Amino acid sequence: MRKKIVAGNWKMNNDLNQTISLIEELKKNHFNEVSVMIAPSSPFSKIAADLLENSPIEVIAQNIHQKSNGAYTGEVSCDMLKSIGILTTLIGHSERRAYFNEDDFVLLEKVKFAIDSGMNIIFCFGEQLKDRKSNKHFDIVKSQLENTVLKLNSESWKNIILAYEPVWAIGTGETASPEQAQEMHEFVRSCISKSYGDIISDEISILYGGSVKPSNAIEIFSKKDVDGGLIGGASLNAFDFSEIIKANK
Ligand code: PGA
Repeated sequence: MRKKIVAGNWKMNNDLNQTISLIEELKKNHFNEVSVMIAPSSPFSKIAADLLENSPIEVIAQNIHQKSNGAYTGEVSCDMLKSIGILTTLIGHSERRAYFNEDDFVLLEKVKFAIDSGMNIIFCFGEQLKDRKSNKHFDIVKSQLENTVLKLNSESWKNIILAYEPVWAIGTGETASPEQAQEMHEFVRSCISKSYGDIISDEISILYGGSVKPSNAIEIFSKKDVDGGLIGGASLNAFDFSEIIKANK
């Protein structure tokens, strides 16, 4: 059975007090059938993990470095995260690609390193507006996957969640239509099936990200190949994030 997942990516938002109060608000809910994850900013990973120790909400990381340790000023390693109980990380978010020059080569290193370290990954990918306008969105997504996760062995797929995030929909208020999300998710699943077979492609959770809100979540999550969402802006508000989680039935 594919897992239903809703993950909140808090990006570079929330100070210590805001982090604590948002977590306390979320803890008041009982989310039964959905795996819920939050990715706070790294200074607050440990306190978030402590606050959620006996809760089903999982704290995840926004990023990792592709080396085990050393002179990499400002970076966070997989071992550091694991030592505070964090076992899942985002990799390949479009903001990392755009503002921190993370290309497919670096992302492949990160993906391999995280999985070899025993971590789970949420691998993000998606086309830009110009790609969609020129009808190249399927080619772009295929190459983003072929250059990274599709190079891994089948064993690694136990540790992978995918997140399709069209760049033109992230933080813009513009969402892919449920049909656009479904057709891309179906395409991605077919790429996985070609490389690894139907058992793996059927099991993999593929999340949609890009301006998901309480008002559009039910329709997007109702599509058969959409297994949940990666939520940015709306995950900063406890009520909105909870409504989105509840929409993933
Ligand atoms: P958004 O961000 O929900 O604010 O569009 C999604 C994301 O960046 O993961």
